[in-house]
Amino acid sequence: MPLNVLLVASEAFPLAKSGGLGDMVSAYAVALRDANVDVSILMPAYPAALACAVDIVPVARMTGLPGGDARLLRARMPGSDVTVLLLQMDHLFAREGLYRDPQGHDYLDNLTRFASLAAAATRVARGVRNLRRPDIVHAHDWHAGLTPLFMRVAGVAAKSVFTIHNLAFQGNHPLALAGWIGVPPELVVPALTDERSIEFYGSLSMMKAGIVHAHRVTTVSERYANEIMTPQFGHGMEGVLQAQRAKLSGIVNGIDTSVWDPATDEYIARRYSVDDTVGKQACKRELQQAFGLTRDPFAPLVAIGSRLTEQKMADVIVRALPELLQQHPRLQFAVLGQGERSLERAMQELAAAWPGRLGVQIGYDERRAHMLHAGADILLHGSRFEPCGLTQLYAMRYGTIPVASRVGGLADTIIDYAPHQTPDDGCPTGFLFDGDHPHNVVHAMDRALAAFMSPSSWHALQRNAMNRDSGWQIPASNYLALYAQLVDARGALRDARALKTPDRQTTATANATRRRAESGFDQSSGELARSA
Ligand code: ADP
Ligand code: GLC
Repeated sequence: MPLNVLLVASEAFPLAKSGGLGDMVSAYAVALRDANVDVSILMPAYPAALACAVDIVPVARMTGLPGGDARLLRARMPGSDVTVLLLQMDHLFAREGLYRDPQGHDYLDNLTRFASLAAAATRVARGVRNLRRPDIVHAHDWHAGLTPLFMRVAGVAAKSVFTIHNLAFQGNHPLALAGWIGVPPELVVPALTDERSIEFYGSLSMMKAGIVHAHRVTTVSERYANEIMTPQFGHGMEGVLQAQRAKLSGIVNGIDTSVWDPATDEYIARRYSVDDTVGKQACKRELQQAFGLTRDPFAPLVAIGSRLTEQKMADVIVRALPELLQQHPRLQFAVLGQGERSLERAMQELAAAWPGRLGVQIGYDERRAHMLHAGADILLHGSRFEPCGLTQLYAMRYGTIPVASRVGGLADTIIDYAPHQTPDDGCPTGFLFDGDHPHNVVHAMDRALAAFMSPSSWHALQRNAMNRDSGWQIPASNYLALYAQLVDARGALRDARALKTPDRQTTATANATRRRAESGFDQSSGELARSA
């Protein structure tokens, strides 16, 4: 029998997505399926998920979840045959937003909503007719954080893994509600007196529940795994994580290389590849047109595509843009994002002040995100903290060179082009900077623009970036090795066909390129493996 893994998450692209979490869950599920793992995703039956999932059939009724009764539906993810289990509780999940109302206020019953998801996961782990019982339950972020706790309380045999995608969002709620959702009183005593307590500075923390009660905890890059044990990046959780460090590790995310592939992408003006990048010019023309920028094939075109929040340093970028535009007369920016209203407005005001040079589109648009990566020369990606970051991985695959903060997964996945280097020396793929002052951004951009002026340097950077192995094979192997520590490796894992030898996550393009050459793996054979 193949290993059975249940992924529990609030998001899975294209059924629900607010950011990288949704991309990660779906792409990882496909990678597990390709490794011969029997994998399903359990998530809420949001209206968009019901509209998008394929072959939906009811499989079970569940009564007495924290939020009441539910129907469990089984379906397939569109575009892959990964099974998705949809938890239908329309009074909790049939709403416009995933976590917030249209005014931007968190739903007041988020605790009940996601405690219900965790309780349903626990029922599936205990055994539901018509569903195979999982060996591993892998919960993601605070939305699924209560799962390991409920599994422990219920004495479920399956092992639990919890992945932190962003420690800034912790799912903290009044402690007094613990009984209401079924958390035993001994697990909400003051944390100082009991390490298993999920009390966190006077609140109940769903994130802490995942960290403390899972058998293993991972996060989405090695560097972030270390950073979150420090006060600067720990969001108050650093002490908890230090105490749990023996079971904490970092595994850098992969990306879905079939969704994000300039050679096959249907969203972009003309397809291209590392061996023939001519089509990128047409993509650049299209991007300039779509964002109201002057048509200029030689203008360095910088993309900014992310949530407009302080995490993403949008406040700093807004202050750096005028200086950059003044200093570099041909420089252009295309900004796609949404987030804090004041930052959205500031971006729009800048666009009005710099017509033809700075185009801003506020909103969420998957197609435009593809156009952005395909058409730009540079991706500007500031972050005060970045657990992994997928945007820079997408950009690199499209030959768009990232200029990014030296934090978390950005530092783990981008190799800095040091000024004294040649682009063939150490395989640099982008530019990293420290700090969150506008002049840090301006200085890093100056370095990138100097390299842009030298076509041979720039093409070498593009080649390095496009050749980076950002697929899921290595990360999936690392997760499988972690699962193997928890379940009988000779039994359930016997059939899990790891595509590569588990490996420490080395992110150097040099190593990735070498690995690819040694294994004979190339992107086209990777795609064939996926569709087989
Ligand atoms: P985070 O999850 O912290 O926002 P990631 O880099 O991991 O950061 O993932 C962001 C994801 O959201 C990427 O798939 C990116 O393309 C997408 N994204 C962010 N903002 C937008 C937007 N305005 N329109 C379309 N896609 C967006
Ligand atoms: C979170 C993080 C981001 C990461 C994504 C997927 O949204 O902010 O850095 O890439 O999760 O793991």
